[in-house]
Amino acid sequence: MRASPPEAKPSVTVERITHQDVPEICALYKRVWDAPPVAGLRPELLKSWQPTPLEFTSWMEGVTYFAARRDGRLVGVIGCEIAQGNCRLVNLAVDPEARRGGVGAALVGAAIEWGRHANATEIWANALARFTAVAALFKHLEFAECGLLHRHEWGEDVRLFERVL
Ligand SMILES: CC(C)(COP(=O)(O)OP(=O)(O)OC[C@H]1O[C@@H](n2cnc3c(N)ncnc32)[C@H](O)[C@@H]1OP(=O)(O)O)[C@@H](O)C(=O)NCCC(=O)NCCS
Repeated sequence: MRASPPEAKPSVTVERITHQDVPEICALYKRVWDAPPVAGLRPELLKSWQPTPLEFTSWMEGVTYFAARRDGRLVGVIGCEIAQGNCRLVNLAVDPEARRGGVGAALVGAAIEWGRHANATEIWANALARFTAVAALFKHLEFAECGLLHRHEWGEDVRLFERVL
């Protein structure tokens, strides 16, 4: 599927990934989590978000991934997991050098389209409570913040976000 979400700025294209994209995607996750948005995150957590190509192939089981490209360069990734009639967003990341250019919004826009296409009635996501950029992105895209899980992921609080489709 080729998506043209309304949130996308013109130069960003978002498409479903292919197996050929996997090395570039793993390189992107490495860049993103080598420069995490906040200091003091546990090394195990950062490592768990930097998959090898083999690990990423297992992440793809049951999850539909989309990649954003700008001028042909892969600058962002998101996964959509459809289960029990809802669509969960996972592993969203945008290249540090491409931020605040509409890439994250384009990816979430594609995920919303995908959720609708799959007849999901809700789209939701979780994020470390300390990650303010992703919270601002979800707010910008009219998600509601709907919960907080205490010390849920490697001892970090996790916020929940949802948008009814
Ligand atoms: C969160 C993230 C995906 C946002 O991607 P992005 O491409 O920079 O986001 P966009 O440019 O599409 O932002 C759209 C809107 O969201 C809000 N927003 C995004 N980042 C923001 C920030 N750092 N501060 C304040 N508002 C922000 C703004 O309203 C922005 O619109 P504007 O730029 O016109 O003001 C990116 O910062 C990222 O990859 N962070 C590290 C990884 C991460 O936290 N992933 C989520 C794990 S759950």
